[in-house]
Amino acid sequence: MSVLEVRDLEVYYETDGEPVRAVDGMSFTIEEGENLGIVGESGCGKSTLAKAILGILPKNGFINDGEIRFDGEDLTAMSEKKRRSYMWDEISMIPQSAMNALDPVYTVREQIVESIEEHRRGVEKARANETVDELFELVGLDPTRADDYPHQFSGGMRQRAMIAMSLSLDPALILADEPTTALDVIMQDQILKRIGAIQDEINSSMMVITHDVSVVAETCDRVLVMYAGKLAEIGPVEEIFDTPYHPYTVGLKRAFPNIQQPDQNLISMPGYPPDLAPPPTGCRFAARCPLATETCFEEQPPEVRNGGLRSRCHHTDRIDSELRPYAGEIQVWERTEAGREVTGT
Ligand SMILES: Nc1ncnc2c1ncn2[C@@H]1O[C@H](COP(=O)(O)OP(=O)(O)OP(=O)(O)O)[C@@H](O)[C@H]1O
Ligand SMILES: [Mg+2]
Repeated sequence: MSVLEVRDLEVYYETDGEPVRAVDGMSFTIEEGENLGIVGESGCGKSTLAKAILGILPKNGFINDGEIRFDGEDLTAMSEKKRRSYMWDEISMIPQSAMNALDPVYTVREQIVESIEEHRRGVEKARANETVDELFELVGLDPTRADDYPHQFSGGMRQRAMIAMSLSLDPALILADEPTTALDVIMQDQILKRIGAIQDEINSSMMVITHDVSVVAETCDRVLVMYAGKLAEIGPVEEIFDTPYHPYTVGLKRAFPNIQQPDQNLISMPGYPPDLAPPPTGCRFAARCPLATETCFEEQPPEVRNGGLRSRCHHTDRIDSELRPYAGEIQVWERTEAGREVTGT
């Protein structure tokens, strides 16, 4: 059963000129107990997607169309009040920065207990305090430290405390936007393992936005690759890594440090994602794609299935023979840029 179902979602930002189409017609689901990773270059709309789900878009951001169903109910059609109660009870957010997320004038324990009491009416104080102790143990903090104020914590400890707080209401869905960027690698590893253990206990699902391939490999069941506001490809993590069918995923994979072969040359794709106000017609990746043809510049790509992958590309049938074997060669990616300059398109 899907915990979250996003259908044809469009999230735009109002600007002086044309609106920025930051998320433009995305559809996907997150199943019960599943971890979905969201990857893609800076500016492709990952945080916008998370904010739209949480209902915390900035003033100029709005949902232009589509549905966000949580447990079958459309969040976009709900009253603000109902949505808010959903947000805290069922969907929780692990924020990118834990610095400002805790109130400096209360101890960490007071804050977590207050949040539990507010959302779990009738809970006994002693029980709420026990929960704080348990959560602190789970995230690897000494429970006696819960009685300290946030400023007495290090950055890493604050992040752990935030994670403890996010998990205090047994959320059905956890949204994590770059949850571990502030942490060193060893701590990041520990934290991810702990989140995983907690998840197993409460069977929650998670959507993880990250730039870090090891985070994806370690925590995700499926991966959604975004490009310029669109879903480029989605599927099981092994298939995305081993046999992607979207040229962008192939290129992105080359740009990721390879955990097995860290010495291998890293290829980053030349060029930049397109302007989204308004976006180009046709495939948004066409201008950077080694396989692009006229059709790609003119027509939106169809959705194609290969194994467990869903890919939006006109040329998935050419990946095996024409791109995959040569993807590690930098010329493959440079040639497109040069070729385009010559033809003047
Ligand atoms: N408040 C805003 N007003 C106008 N445009 C915005 C606003 N916030 C984001 N954008 C634009 O929307 C697009 C998506 O931004 P978003 O922050 O969702 O990207 P992202 O994938 O999270 O990037 P990053 O990896 O850098 O966090 C970008 O083109 C960005 O410039
Ligand atoms: Mg972001």
